[in-house]
Amino acid sequence: SAPLRTHAAAKGKFIGAALATGPLSNETAYRNIAATEFNQVTAENAMKWDSTEPNPGQFNFSGADAIVDFAVQNDQQVHGHTLIWHQQTPGWVQGLSASAMREAIERHISTVVGRYADNPAVVSWDVVNEVFEENGNFRTSFWYNTLGQSYIADAFRAARAADPDARLCINDYNVEGINAKSTAMYNLVRSLRQQGVPVDCVGFQSHLAIQYGFPNDLQQNLQRFADLGVQVRITELDVRMQMPRDSSKDATQATYYRNVVNACLAVEACAGVTIWGFTDKHSWVPDTFGGEGAALIYDENYQKKSSYDAVHDTLASG
Ligand code: G3I
Repeated sequence: SAPLRTHAAAKGKFIGAALATGPLSNETAYRNIAATEFNQVTAENAMKWDSTEPNPGQFNFSGADAIVDFAVQNDQQVHGHTLIWHQQTPGWVQGLSASAMREAIERHISTVVGRYADNPAVVSWDVVNEVFEENGNFRTSFWYNTLGQSYIADAFRAARAADPDARLCINDYNVEGINAKSTAMYNLVRSLRQQGVPVDCVGFQSHLAIQYGFPNDLQQNLQRFADLGVQVRITELDVRMQMPRDSSKDATQATYYRNVVNACLAVEACAGVTIWGFTDKHSWVPDTFGGEGAALIYDENYQKKSSYDAVHDTLASG
């Protein structure tokens, strides 16, 4: 039957995947599925600061360009990920004085966003990523400790200047349900927009785990953000489980995938769903959560799982 992207496009949504440059360059099955099933892609690592500007003013776009070129060849939208984050940012940035850090942000954003500003495939950016702690306080990252919260507005303004047409997003995890962290995000987005800061979009990473339950107020939460006038999107969906897999865990996982896609379909301002990879062969989960895995929609042999069918049938329904 038709691939995911056909059904998503018929609903006016995207269905995407985060792509890694290694398998994209050397695994045919990876390339074929990435090209066939998805109409949107995000670079899993290749657009992060440590990849694009490892040394001051020395930019390297080899990985980023590989992802963008692939997307152009396959008629896919690219979501840029990510400009300002406290991880995968080189040490030389972290130690800068406030004024030098402001200049580094400006140069980094104008160069990276500017590179793709005229490329119609690159439509959106995560401008800031994971700025909150779980309790809703600002994360005390080196950005915040050096600059206070001003870096957030500055980053959005720099991105807007570099590409006036790109959709500019703030992105975080554990903000899928209504809780202290998502409410802090809500208040920040509202306040920034009241001040004229160009925040166009909110990304909900959605790194879920079957053993922690589903955020049943996801749709309601997406809708409250949509009511602020922003686009919303699911940016990094995966649903991990304690290994080994079994059919019951697979069925629960499939339900989670179905619920996320349904929530996005139900909210007009939800642009689409990006899965954080697609095959269990290449996933950040086992490296980070000992004993957990199998979070994606294809297994490690590129066979479709029940979670694939859930995404497919939900996109195709109605
Ligand atoms: O590229 C180096 C390689 O040269 C080296 O030999 C190898 C040895 O460890 O590491 C390689 O870098 C790894 C990189 O992924 C590329 O594979 C890093 O160690 C590893 O930490 C890094 O992990 C990434 C992680 O972000 C870093 O925090 C994951 O792939 C990526 O999936 C993950 O993605 C994040 C999103 O950007 C933001 N939201 C959360 C999400 C999951 O953590």
